[in-house]
Amino acid sequence: MEYLDLYLVHWPISSKPGEVGFPVPKEDLLPMDYRGVWEAMEESQMLGLTKSIGLSNFSCKKIETILTFATIPPSINQVEMHPVWQQRKLIEFCKAKGIIVTAYSPLGAVGKIYGSNQVLENETLKEIAKAHGKTVAQVSLRWIFEQGATVVVKSLNLERMKQNLGIFDWKLTDDDYDKINQIPQHRLIPSDFWVSPQGPFKTLEELWDD
Ligand SMILES: NC(=O)c1ccc[n+]([C@@H]2O[C@H](COP(=O)([O-])OP(=O)(O)OC[C@H]3O[C@@H](n4cnc5c(N)ncnc54)[C@H](OP(=O)(O)O)[C@@H]3O)[C@@H](O)[C@H]2O)c1
Repeated sequence: MEYLDLYLVHWPISSKPGEVGFPVPKEDLLPMDYRGVWEAMEESQMLGLTKSIGLSNFSCKKIETILTFATIPPSINQVEMHPVWQQRKLIEFCKAKGIIVTAYSPLGAVGKIYGSNQVLENETLKEIAKAHGKTVAQVSLRWIFEQGATVVVKSLNLERMKQNLGIFDWKLTDDDYDKINQIPQHRLIPSDFWVSPQGPFKTLEELWDD
């Protein structure tokens, strides 16, 4: 490849130089030099190596830090987002700053080692899906689309890929929104592999600025 379309800082954390496994061993976790990393990202864009640069898994507070010195603001922030973790505050914040939110694990990463069936098995979403003659996956993806967010959904199954594209010729009703707004909120993928007593984030609250 001569260039990337979009290049993201995956997490607001660094590791000791050298080969990096996943999860990164806790003793190798280091605080990120936000300014240094973002300047290098900007240089990548200025050199034409990437068309856009952005963030992933950054809280409002951490994006604010980047914005204090960015000459090229992040184009997007990619985070966990679905009707069970709606990210209302982050969506509002990013909208005000002109940053697009991308929803990852929009179906709760069902079937993945880090995932959960709490989106696809949600009774409220099942009820809404039944009323529209759609699947729960389609309801979740449509809801994300209606929030003005972009979405990365993953399937290795052709039929489900087609199903996941079938969200553009119908919409959710006010009644659906009343129900979706009442779904109890919690993060399904807290990602505590970045938390360590010796590392830069000693608690999940520090990682997410919750
Ligand atoms: N930036 C980050 O830190 C971060 C973190 C996590 C994920 N991501 C990215 O986000 C993207 C998607 O997230 P994800 O794979 O974690 O979760 P996801 O898209 O919510 O879920 C994928 C799972 O859902 C199943 N699935 C897909 N469509 C379905 C449908 N219509 N009905 C029922 N099941 C369906 C897939 O199985 P089948 O293949 O069998 O259909 C797969 O097991 C990936 O590209 C991933 O790399 C980014």
